[in-house]
Amino acid sequence: MATLDNVDYELHLPPKHARGELDQDEEWCEIEIDGERRRIRFHDYAEIYDVPGLYERLFADRLDCQSPRVVADLLGEALRDAGLKPERLTALDFGAGNGMVGELLAELAVGEIVGVDLLPEARDAAHRDRPGLYEAYYALDMTQLAPEQRRDLMRHDFDVMTCVAALGFGDIPPLAFAEAFNLVGSPGWVAFNIRDRFVEERCSGFGGLIARMFREGILEERTRTRYIHRVSVDGEPLEYVALVAEKHADVPLDWTHDYSD
Ligand SMILES: C[S@@+](CC[C@H](N)C(=O)[O-])C[C@H]1O[C@@H](n2cnc3c(N)ncnc32)[C@H](O)[C@@H]1O
Repeated sequence: MATLDNVDYELHLPPKHARGELDQDEEWCEIEIDGERRRIRFHDYAEIYDVPGLYERLFADRLDCQSPRVVADLLGEALRDAGLKPERLTALDFGAGNGMVGELLAELAVGEIVGVDLLPEARDAAHRDRPGLYEAYYALDMTQLAPEQRRDLMRHDFDVMTCVAALGFGDIPPLAFAEAFNLVGSPGWVAFNIRDRFVEERCSGFGGLIARMFREGILEERTRTRYIHRVSVDGEPLEYVALVAEKHADVPLDWTHDYSD
């Protein structure tokens, strides 16, 4: 498809009558160029990233997404409380997309920021929209790391992992989260957000895995906040929890079998 650099497009949300029925992972928008409309599901991230500025226009501007800012602020506060200098830290931004979180980590003065995302379109959009922000950006599947990919990632010696707006709803699965988490050294830090109802399910899914990591001392919670991630296309607030925790040990990968999404 042709790139939409410098092309004006209008952004439409679903009409009122179609909004109420859409679950969070079914939402869509349409972009209109010269009277022609193209429908894009919010979860078709590759298509969204291909259109310069669409991710920000849609999520940050129209739907008031606060998550990158909320998670980055919470992490900044926790690092300050722990007396750590961000300049000395290397961060793995997992599910990095086109770099909104990376940009805020740079504002915190984090020394080195590395992006990882499943989609080459995310990597390409990050390079296009925020050139030079990431020290390196890998498009890869954490659940199927080739030995040389693992070696490359381990060389960064990560101190921190961020994972924003990428857990639950069929995005990053528990095994990929665990693999990424285990690339961070101990002691280390992790900052992420998740839909409130997922973290409250303390026996199954992601909530179950996280609860067990806390119980078994792999993670130690430093701070959390409940907040509005964004509004739905229907204008309803979507409540999430943002959490910052200290990492004390790796998570056994076989635990993730018990908590598949
Ligand atoms: C809503 S975007 C969030 C992007 C960025 N973190 C932000 O807050 O702006 C979710 C991102 O997670 C990525 N993602 C989904 N499944 C993934 C997986 N299994 N491994 C890595 N990234 C994944 C998507 O490609 C997408 O870029």
